[in-house]
Amino acid sequence: MALLKASFLQMSKRFLLQCGACWKPGSKLSVHTSPKMPPCDFTPEKCEYQPYDNILKIRKQNFSPLMSTYFQKPLLLHQGYMQWLFDHEGRRYLDLFSGILTISVGHCHPKVTAAAQKQLGLLWHTSPVFLHPAVHEYAEKLIALFPEPLKVIFFTNSGSEANDMAMLMARSHSQNVDIISFRGAYHGTSPYTFGLTNVGAYKPRIDRGSSCQTTMCPDVFRGPWGGSQCRDSLVQTNRKCDCTPGCCKAKNQYIEEFKTTLHTVVAKEIAGFFAEPIQGVNGVVQYPKEFLKEAYQLVKERGGVYISDEVQTGFGRLGTHFWGFQSHGVLPDIVTMAKGIGNGFPMSAVVTTPEIASSFTKKVNHFNTFAGNPMGGVIGSAVLDAIKEDGLQENSHETGSYMLLKLAKLRDEFEIVGDVRGKGLMIGIEMVQDQDSRKPLPLKEMNLIHEDCKDMGIIIGRGGLFTQTFRVAPPMCITKQEADFAVEVFHSALRRHMEKRAKGNL
Ligand SMILES: Cc1ncc(COP(=O)(O)O)c(C=O)c1O
Repeated sequence: MALLKASFLQMSKRFLLQCGACWKPGSKLSVHTSPKMPPCDFTPEKCEYQPYDNILKIRKQNFSPLMSTYFQKPLLLHQGYMQWLFDHEGRRYLDLFSGILTISVGHCHPKVTAAAQKQLGLLWHTSPVFLHPAVHEYAEKLIALFPEPLKVIFFTNSGSEANDMAMLMARSHSQNVDIISFRGAYHGTSPYTFGLTNVGAYKPRIDRGSSCQTTMCPDVFRGPWGGSQCRDSLVQTNRKCDCTPGCCKAKNQYIEEFKTTLHTVVAKEIAGFFAEPIQGVNGVVQYPKEFLKEAYQLVKERGGVYISDEVQTGFGRLGTHFWGFQSHGVLPDIVTMAKGIGNGFPMSAVVTTPEIASSFTKKVNHFNTFAGNPMGGVIGSAVLDAIKEDGLQENSHETGSYMLLKLAKLRDEFEIVGDVRGKGLMIGIEMVQDQDSRKPLPLKEMNLIHEDCKDMGIIIGRGGLFTQTFRVAPPMCITKQEADFAVEVFHSALRRHMEKRAKGNL
């Protein structure tokens, strides 16, 4: 009898999930109607792999324990199509995190897939000591997207490797060693970039790259200063200020802090300053307008170069511009890119000026086997074509702004929504205990909301020093209808969370 009851419950659970309702473990099949998922004309293949439990066992026994997963029962993903992901049971999810901002044009985008398939049958690898037409055509196409004098490209394999190379370039060009990055910054976890990454959870307890110094992150929501018109976003913080247009006191205060860093922790002459146009891992943190421009001027005066880490912000994701640095009106000396460049194919690049490239070449004999291989060339090229042909930068702007404004309204309804910010399809929702204290929402509560969103069919990302920020950065092909669905799901999850909170059921 017990067995029958259990299998009935299991069947009912599956049925309810499939028809969009939500089943809560432990509940007596209470039916909360969840927002209805928009249609998708793609049917995934049946997952023929080993059973879920075997896969989980392999993960636990043979993978490094460092590799953590989202959710109590980690998702086993089987297939992807544009903005959709399918798990091993064929359940569909709207992907709002793009494999950590890596799927730029859509999972298995037909054009990119066709280009990759064609090249697979022709030539996979040559090594940089040979020429290959696709690699050179791609380099030309990518470089055309940069203003003068950013015209020299180095291909690399990952974001960390690109940033390693940029650090070497900054040091070899300036002949100085000190590099500054923000507290809260994430620029990779290679032995060299460990020095730049200032997220405590990622700091190793062993040597982590010397001569890297930190400076205060000009975070206008969580930092000491911030007001009602600081950032380049359609949505500002709830903080008040009496600044007038063109004069941002918060920016001035943060610049003073930056000057203090220059006067105290670095040598007279420095190698460079690393910053993302908008911080990703730290939870879509935006700086006051003009901050980067002024900071760069100070860096230049000290002999340093400015490196824009576009690993998350590049390739049109911010909507108004193709590169994040353009939205700050600043021209970097070195730009690093990865993730979205290959829509999931592992590749990255560093772009710099002929002058810096020449200093680098004099000091460093750099070589990497896979740099600019034919597969990367055709895939990277197809990604650029897809961004253009599908109007994805424009869509990032339109759909991103649409979703941002809708999400911002949640602040009025829910005390635990502290801040909503971002640009294009890079949005952060910072969760707090209450809007006055701005203390981060406890991890347990974050996890519950996160899990609930997943159960209702959206995969949302996390960020922030306390993982207190939800990150929304879907493949750039997401539609407004899907954005509506995502906001409805998030709204439902918050509503249910607040109900549980009120009943003391957390
Ligand atoms: C801004 C930024 N830079 C660099 C990296 C490192 O890239 P990778 O993981 O490819 O080494 C990341 C990764 O998340 C990143 O977000």
